[in-house]
Amino acid sequence: MEQKRYILVTGGAGYIGSHTVVELVKNNFIPVILDDFRNAKTSVIERLEKITGVELEVESESCHTIAVLDILAKKYDFWGVIHFAADKAVGESVKEPLKYYQNNLGGLIVVLDWMRRTQIKNLVFSSSCTVYGDPENKTVNEQSPTQKPTSPYGRTKLMCEDILKDAAQAYAQLSIVALRYFNPIGAHESALIGEEPQGIPNNLLPYITQTASGVREKLTVYGNDYQTVDGTCVRDYIHVTDLANAHVKALDFLAADTHSSYEVFNIGTGKGTSVLQFIEMFERVANTNLNWEFGKRRPGDVPEIFAEVDKARTALSWQAKYSVEEAIASSWKWELNKQSL
Ligand code: WQD
Repeated sequence: MEQKRYILVTGGAGYIGSHTVVELVKNNFIPVILDDFRNAKTSVIERLEKITGVELEVESESCHTIAVLDILAKKYDFWGVIHFAADKAVGESVKEPLKYYQNNLGGLIVVLDWMRRTQIKNLVFSSSCTVYGDPENKTVNEQSPTQKPTSPYGRTKLMCEDILKDAAQAYAQLSIVALRYFNPIGAHESALIGEEPQGIPNNLLPYITQTASGVREKLTVYGNDYQTVDGTCVRDYIHVTDLANAHVKALDFLAADTHSSYEVFNIGTGKGTSVLQFIEMFERVANTNLNWEFGKRRPGDVPEIFAEVDKARTALSWQAKYSVEEAIASSWKWELNKQSL
């Protein structure tokens, strides 16, 4: 039986982190969750244990706490790290840039330095399509220019990628993959975990499901005068379970050891969906009429972007399996079920 490998999952109680924990256990890894629960409910742990059938190792601490990281390194023989812990609300980052630079850059630097000191080799980093800014060509690949992201949040992701590149260059023992997420949506098939935005959701699908379930009064569609198929913004929406599996494939890629010390991958479906098309899909899946209206454009929104995913398909042997409709259906099931949790 292959030796089980410990993986430190910072931010492992969050939306993408928790779904990745499920896939790690399924693939014979042992995740150790490090999360200060600033943006996650502690109840997610018992729900994760119900899904995975295992007792999870959890440290309720920030990844900035070097003393805790050092204790963990003595307690577990970590094979690798998946670093999710970061703040990620675009709008909030405009109002609180220092919080974003301190947490997102500071946290990564602490984790990288800890890995260097304790000889932990493998890192998967959660990056974002926001590093492409507003691209000339709407279908972006990993060679597409990373340009001025439209928010401090996006800038922290681009700066983190530069930090990773320099660290991989300077410290030969580090082997790093950065995954550029497109738009994660959906929930685990059990409807026991899903997106749990604190307060008013920034993102489209949680706002839609909360409107349909009566939590919100009406969805505002931010702008209908873009140069797109129907005037509304186009995005590449990917099921969070597909995204979670991309992290497992990234760990397998790092294990293969036949790669450069730093690699970047787009993680999307390769298809674009406009806001109006998305609303129509939701109404069909939930068999309901959504209450919505057009409103003004949202500052910082990019008219259209979606991924070219050839590199992940060939180098990671990974591609998205779920359709946008299936992801929307899983999110609606989660919205209806979470009220009973
Ligand atoms: C999608 C579309 C909105 C809400 C976000 C994060 C980004 C990344 C991916 C982490 C846009 C429109 C939305 C609403 C609307 N996450 N919309 N009414 O902005 O593409 O990116 O997810 O890496 O960092 O910002 O996603 O879901 O906010 O918006 O019309 O109430 O839906 O204008 O066109 P976005 P989103």
